[in-house]
Amino acid sequence: MLIRAELQTPRLILRPFRKDDLDALAALMANTDFMRFSLGPYSREQAQTVLQKFLSWGEAGLPSPFAVIFRGNNALIGYCGFLHQHVDGMDEIEIGYRLHPDYWNRGLATEAARAVRDHAFHNLKLPRVISLIHPSNIASRRVAEKIGMKLEKETVFRGIQHLVFAIAREPRVPSPPEASGAG
Ligand SMILES: CC(C)(COP(=O)(O)OP(=O)(O)OC[C@H]1O[C@@H](n2cnc3c(N)ncnc32)[C@H](O)[C@@H]1OP(=O)(O)O)[C@@H](O)C(=O)NCCC(=O)NCCS
Repeated sequence: MLIRAELQTPRLILRPFRKDDLDALAALMANTDFMRFSLGPYSREQAQTVLQKFLSWGEAGLPSPFAVIFRGNNALIGYCGFLHQHVDGMDEIEIGYRLHPDYWNRGLATEAARAVRDHAFHNLKLPRVISLIHPSNIASRRVAEKIGMKLEKETVFRGIQHLVFAIAREPRVPSPPEASGAG
């Protein structure tokens, strides 16, 4: 099933979250750096609410975030995938990403987000995806740029100034008509 797909990249496996990921996700969300540019570290209860939200989207047949597994050690090192947001009166699908700081600056978020972008367009046929990024979050802006997103506008999201990066699915170029061979 496409919604429950597992994505493979050279260094990562992106798989659907499971109930038994709570310990790993709670440990990540307790980390201040992992939670940068958000609401600060989360308690286990808050992480459980997040995990429940991710799982319920999947159960409802909606795109949701993937657990990011580092092939080198099989550790769950973060998430990357689809978040459902309401931005300036529109329903949007965001590609969101967070990784444990031990894994930053190795191109891993870009590797994950690129696979998620391709899945969005090639398999799920989403018309567009966005990323909501705090203007000071240079690393996240770079990831968005590296996967081909363009800065679309600034907005206030949940009371905080954000940049909206976006990319739309390329329209399929129709194949040229078959040569008729009739002269
Ligand atoms: C944003 C985040 C996922 C990026 O992960 P990552 O695996 O380090 O990303 P990549 O290595 O693929 O790319 C990071 C890019 O930012 C650049 N970068 C990182 N910190 C930077 C800084 N302080 N100034 C300038 N560039 C910086 C890196 O050089 C790299 O760009 P390059 O390839 O052009 O050299 C990670 O930093 C993170 O989890 N941060 C906390 C959570 C977060 O902010 N999530 C995004 C919310 S919108």
